[in-house]
Amino acid sequence: MLRGHGAGRAGWRVLLVVALLAVLAACEQDERSGEGAQQLAWGEATFAWHCARCHAADRSAPAMTSDTLLTTYGDGLDLYELIRASMPLDAPETLSDRDYLAVTAYLLDREELLTLPPEERFTEGNAALVDLGRQPFELEPDPEVIPEGDPVVPDD
Ligand code: HEC
Repeated sequence: MLRGHGAGRAGWRVLLVVALLAVLAACEQDERSGEGAQQLAWGEATFAWHCARCHAADRSAPAMTSDTLLTTYGDGLDLYELIRASMPLDAPETLSDRDYLAVTAYLLDREELLTLPPEERFTEGNAALVDLGRQPFELEPDPEVIPEGDPVVPDD
């Protein structure tokens, strides 16, 4: 009996088309090259060694999706400085600046947020050019909202 045979063939054809489209989409992406690509490879390895045990998709620490990055940071320098100062959570400031830059570049690229020219490394000099859109924190206190009078001191 041939029931399902035709449908099976059509299914394969659909699969083939989908696969071809996926390949085309991958080619169209702004692939990193030269030093930019080298840094990303380094960053991916750094992530695997130093971050994935907590930040891999099935682990407890935040997954760092484009949504969270875009709502938390003003630009790439913000993100880099946070990572350098506080991660790995149980051993902050233990990696080299080179590793921290690479892993930050990797996270940005993974979420398609690394907007630098493909062959350019992510550095402290250009990190702020990677705009993540969150408005910078307003550091100047607004006198209107500072309460008058003595500060409230807790009892104990
Ligand atoms: C021991 C576990 C652990 C390791 C290792 C670790 N992290 Fe984290 N990380 C956390 C936890 C937990 C939080 C959430 C902290 C909080 O919300 O106060 C966090 C938060 C963060 C954040 C801020 C959250 C966000 O969504 O923006 C970033 C960025 C980050 N980690 C990057 C890294 C990078 C990069 C590495 C590797 C160099 C790393 N972490 C290694 C546990 C870890």
